[in-house]
Amino acid sequence: MQDPLLDLDYKPHLPPKIDYGIAIVGTGGIVNYAVLPTYTKHGLNVVGCFDANSESAAKTASHFNIPRVYRDLDEILEDPQVDIVEISVPPWRQLEIVRKVAAAGKHMLCQKPLSDTFAEAKEIVRVAKEAKVKLAVNQQMRWDQGIRAARTLMCKGWIGEVTDGQIQVSVSTPWHMWGWLAVQARLEVMYHSIHYIDSMRYLFGDPIWITSRHSRYPLQGNLAGETKTVTIMDYDTPSHLQVLIADNHYNLSDDYFAIFRFIGTEGSINGTLGLMYNYPTGRPDTIEWSSRHYYADKRFEAKLEGMWIPDAFIGPIASLMRAIQEDGLPETDGEDNLNTLRVVEAAYLSARENRSVRLDEIR
Ligand SMILES: NC(=O)c1ccc[n+]([C@@H]2O[C@H](COP(=O)([O-])OP(=O)(O)OC[C@H]3O[C@@H](n4cnc5c(N)ncnc54)[C@H](O)[C@@H]3O)[C@@H](O)[C@H]2O)c1
Repeated sequence: MQDPLLDLDYKPHLPPKIDYGIAIVGTGGIVNYAVLPTYTKHGLNVVGCFDANSESAAKTASHFNIPRVYRDLDEILEDPQVDIVEISVPPWRQLEIVRKVAAAGKHMLCQKPLSDTFAEAKEIVRVAKEAKVKLAVNQQMRWDQGIRAARTLMCKGWIGEVTDGQIQVSVSTPWHMWGWLAVQARLEVMYHSIHYIDSMRYLFGDPIWITSRHSRYPLQGNLAGETKTVTIMDYDTPSHLQVLIADNHYNLSDDYFAIFRFIGTEGSINGTLGLMYNYPTGRPDTIEWSSRHYYADKRFEAKLEGMWIPDAFIGPIASLMRAIQEDGLPETDGEDNLNTLRVVEAAYLSARENRSVRLDEIR
């Protein structure tokens, strides 16, 4: 029998009941590419979809055998088969939809970022709370295979007190896949590093200080926002944990990397985020680790199955379903997500004012 210490426990845990009726609002890129393939694989019950572009909704419904195409949001809200509304529209459209869904008493899975302004994100969370409906955010990197496996190892004490957490990504990102991002003045941290920030918060909780530097690639053309960023999160832990998130989306050489690394008082964990090497094709994550505490100084490595996108997309919806069943909170509950957005806002303030920002400055 395998030593339980070596069980990485990185695959999603589905709740007992998974047949909740799901209606999708917004049938664009991420829904077709990641959400629906994953829900189909796990046999979730998608009862219908709606998009402001009716052709898009009809095409998606036909491709994934979705029984119903709604003419508008009201039709979804009147449909008793719908328990969960999954919203996947650009962030500045999310609040208006949340208001209606919450008023109809349906639970929600919202896209990240919850909003592109912190004030609106807070309003989204307030509205859901007031209506007493569950609101989860599709911050699915927490279910990335390498991140989950690393967390299991850390929880089992393989590397002791963690002193350093790092995600470093230097790749060539196909920004043209998301046309509407081109005009966003806040680009990299708001839409990409937000995943790494949320994953680090999942592993280590909230930092005290955030320091961030933002830059652009000289030939990034019509992209308005930053595309190269470095963010440091300092923690008030006995081990003085420091987290580094460094992203360059314009590495046009063939020397790509997308790595995570956790160093502790007893050992270290290294891995790769396979998806980022050649997005969107990608490859599975890798992980290796060693410890002075267990199996002293033997180096371990494991093969992980699946990829961050699309496979991790089962995580947020499964967690929301469990929260509904147990009347608890989803792992990526809206309130929790506000602290991810606080770090994002702190990063922009830090870069703008050339200083470190305390998390509690963002209110
Ligand atoms: N979680 C992730 O990893 C991840 C990845 C990519 C995108 N996203 C997020 O998902 C959202 C959608 O991104 P995308 O790349 O699919 O965009 P997209 O432009 O491909 O799709 C958005 C769709 O929403 C529809 N839409 C817009 N306003 C609407 C409204 N009021 N009612 C109904 N439909 C409406 C559009 O017609 C379009 O089909 C964004 O918030 C983005 O940040 C998240």
